[in-house]
Amino acid sequence: MASEAFDLVVIGAGPGGYVAAIRAAQLGMKVACVEKRPTPGGTCLNVGCIPSKALLQSSHVLEETAHDLKAHGILVGDVKLDLAQMMKRKDDVVGATTKGVAFLFKKNKVTAITGTARIDAPGKVAVLGDDGAVAQTLEARNILIASGSEVTPLPGVTIDEKTIVSSTGALELQAVPQRMVVIGAGIIGLELGSVWRRLGSEVTMVEFLDRIAPGVDNDVTRQLQRALEKQGLKFKLGRKVTSAVQGKDGIVVSHEPAQGGAAEQLTVDVVLVCIGRRPYVEGLGLDKVGVKLTDRGRIAVDAHFQTSVPGIYAIGDVIDGPMLAHKASEDGIACVETLAGQKGHVDWDKVPSVVYTQPEVAWVGKTEEQLKAAGVAYKVGKYPFTADPRSRANNRTDGFVKVLSDKATDTVLGVHIIGAEAGTMIAEAVLAMEYSASAEDIGRVCHAHPTVSEALKEAALAAWDKPIHL
Ligand code: FAD
Ligand code: NAI
Repeated sequence: MASEAFDLVVIGAGPGGYVAAIRAAQLGMKVACVEKRPTPGGTCLNVGCIPSKALLQSSHVLEETAHDLKAHGILVGDVKLDLAQMMKRKDDVVGATTKGVAFLFKKNKVTAITGTARIDAPGKVAVLGDDGAVAQTLEARNILIASGSEVTPLPGVTIDEKTIVSSTGALELQAVPQRMVVIGAGIIGLELGSVWRRLGSEVTMVEFLDRIAPGVDNDVTRQLQRALEKQGLKFKLGRKVTSAVQGKDGIVVSHEPAQGGAAEQLTVDVVLVCIGRRPYVEGLGLDKVGVKLTDRGRIAVDAHFQTSVPGIYAIGDVIDGPMLAHKASEDGIACVETLAGQKGHVDWDKVPSVVYTQPEVAWVGKTEEQLKAAGVAYKVGKYPFTADPRSRANNRTDGFVKVLSDKATDTVLGVHIIGAEAGTMIAEAVLAMEYSASAEDIGRVCHAHPTVSEALKEAALAAWDKPIHL
């Protein structure tokens, strides 16, 4: 079998792999990208970020039309759901987005190969077809693993993607379940729980910890939980699910206190399991070539994304750091720029996170709890959207902006936003922190009026000295 030679073979065409492949080609490398799904885009474009945001948007429009228009003096008749059309629109959005990646591969002369990649030796990749036989072999000066992550299974709860679903099945339900249990009140649970609650399900979230959304600043979490409860989501905190079995009237979900104790049951139509994701390394042949994993099962890399084997690199969800699409892409760019002799670097502490509930939650940098734990002296500037004129005009006054800055130097250490447009607003805070801005710097920047971003300026002024409008 003839073997084709490349400067770089990328394994996985998710936001880590496809972006790395395009950037490497732009830098003059001959690049192949091997992907086992029929379409590029990885988890994010096919079954993650994009379809979930399409359904979040559609369900938000439904909710707004049914409940929020009256406040604007707009009266509508009976609002009905056409779930099949909503799902078709979601599929169309995914289709257009994955086609876009295929187009970019062509445009940048990346060779896209469909199949499962296995590393046989440094510099040698075998591509397996559906039958498991080697269909093609590739010679590679460098190999980049961007194989992503998969759903963490929960013992006692067997996912069938019909009634006991992971996020993938929850994006494909053909009917609105009357009753739904979400196991895990993390990011997927809050987003997809919101989607199905808006579409009419009675959603109960069972969470192991005594709080929702671990990792988010406590102030924000408290307000988010109140807002979501007002919308009708129910939370059972400090509890763990021990089993989910098909009963006469539905699936019987048993849950008990996290530390053990008397079990209770809930009978529902659909169970969504979302207790986290784990790195995906199956079938890559890592053992054979000697690529080492961390004790958490992620591929261990050095500061330049090189694994324990020279010439084999790894990025994205399969290595340490936040499991986010934009982080995977930045890893990919930094990795291939370093390969091309440039200086690639990603600061994972400045990767923003967004939860696309309503209100949205977005943050970058340290939480107040982290600063306390580290013994850092800090200042807090907080500004509520109720004080922001554009938010009032928009009828979206839930939430606040919180700026945390160093008490001695005023350098911004963290920004936490809960509000209708938090996800868009956080970009400014990331930029500021990338350039080591002080709270005063943000407070002195001219912000357009009336825009919700003025709330960040005011929160920064509050951290530095005094806000004008509070
Ligand atoms: P992936 O996107 O997982 O891509 C890896 C690819 O490698 C896959 O397509 C896989 O098929 C392929 N692959 C694996 N092994 C092989 C092999 N041996 N040969 C060939 N191909 C292989 N992140 C955000 O930033 N924002 C969001 O809004 C967001 N929403 C999400 C919603 C959901 C429901 C889920 C599940 C995730 C969401 N994420 C979101 C997380 C995001 O999807 C991941 O962080 C991101 O996809 C990671 O990119 P990656 O390139 O590392 O891996
Ligand atoms: P997660 O880590 O965000 O949340 C999992 C939750 O499940 C945690 O609160 C945890 O305490 C809880 N849990 C764990 N075991 C449990 C048990 N036995 N019973 C009850 N609760 C239990 O994981 P999630 O929501 O599955 O998402 C995976 C990852 O996907 C995220 O961490 C994020 O990296 C990515 N993602 C990002 C999105 C975004 O950026 N908007 C959207 C969706 C996913």
